[in-house]
Amino acid sequence: MYSLVCIECGRENDETRYNCECGGLLEVRFKLDEVEIDFKLDGRDMRVWKYRSLLPVRSDPVTLKEGGTPLYRLDRLEKELGIRKIYVKHEGLNPSGSFKDRGMTVGVTKALEFKKNAVACASTGNTSASMAMYAAKAGLKAYVLLPAGKVALGKVAQALMHGAEVIGIRGNFDDALRIVREVCDRAGIYLLNSVNPFRLEGQKTIAYEIADEIGVPDAVILPIGNAGNISAIFKGFEELREIGLTDEMPKMIGIQAEGASPVFKAFKEGKEDIKPLGNPETIATAIRIGNPVNAKKALRAVYRSRGLVEAVSDQEIISAQKILAKNGIGVEPASAASLAGLIKLSKMGAIEGDATVVCIATGNLLKDPETAMKVCGEPKIVDADVEKIMALLT
Ligand SMILES: Cc1ncc(COP(=O)(O)O)c(C=O)c1O
Ligand SMILES: [Zn+2]
Repeated sequence: MYSLVCIECGRENDETRYNCECGGLLEVRFKLDEVEIDFKLDGRDMRVWKYRSLLPVRSDPVTLKEGGTPLYRLDRLEKELGIRKIYVKHEGLNPSGSFKDRGMTVGVTKALEFKKNAVACASTGNTSASMAMYAAKAGLKAYVLLPAGKVALGKVAQALMHGAEVIGIRGNFDDALRIVREVCDRAGIYLLNSVNPFRLEGQKTIAYEIADEIGVPDAVILPIGNAGNISAIFKGFEELREIGLTDEMPKMIGIQAEGASPVFKAFKEGKEDIKPLGNPETIATAIRIGNPVNAKKALRAVYRSRGLVEAVSDQEIISAQKILAKNGIGVEPASAASLAGLIKLSKMGAIEGDATVVCIATGNLLKDPETAMKVCGEPKIVDADVEKIMALLT
């Protein structure tokens, strides 16, 4: 029903590979005309496994009831920016607090299918939290490599509490990924970074859920780090159209942090691949990545959907994080890059007034309490006295 195909040379690869012999990225391809679709886009019972007929597993999934995340409307901002409909899909409300759970439910299920007893990843934080949680559920050993001192507190706490072996390296995410790939090869451990094409299959359900709830929007805007999620969501919309459940495609709009923006630079130059960046830096540590492994897939998604890539400053990210918070949506900095991008693009006149736009909020506010405290300031402390409190009411 499906095979693992190289996006460069088109060769079919064994299911347990992460890259083709030619070095190309792999992609799961379904024979869509043979798949028996057993769900309807009726806005009901949304969750990852509603779409099982389009997910490449052969066994009962390892699930923590991921997906089915809420889609909120920002009506005040719609008026302010003069955009017809602005939605935010809050992926921070998944079990571990980020969209990674959609990928991990599929990835960890595959690890069991392949009879692996250990999984591993390099991570800017959320992948490790999610992997640790799903590995715990499945009874698998989990190994995590992090850039030491550059991962938000909540994520490290999650990875540790769910029982992963957490190792900080003196280096950045790109170094960690290079090392963990070799370690997995040598030790027979199953790699669960987004170079693993099965993870992206789970993440494509973000597209299915959006189409399920509101149909196909004009644009989907999301942060780009390792560039897996934008590729996955594009694939999800493409499949729905190929099956005939929808007949449109949204523009895929990727947003990077200025200090970590190789995909933005490649897009500006009309290139199909990136030039890796040596020292990525941004307050949005989740997307502090200089050599995104899925860049080619992401750029392909952007060009094919007639979308674009933009970069935003840390200040714009924090300001968007605060706007989301004032609308009742608590996200971590990287997640706010999508709204920061929308605001910037709208001011540049790059978003049509009658557009319906969906911003993906990728991770929860609680992931990074330290940055929140830094940008909001500490709470006031006063004596335990009613008058003192009365005096503080504004
Ligand atoms: C909160 C958050 N947003 C965005 C991203 C970027 O996603 P991708 O690496 O799929 O581009 C990540 C990746 O770690 C993340 O944790
Ligand atoms: Zn190939």
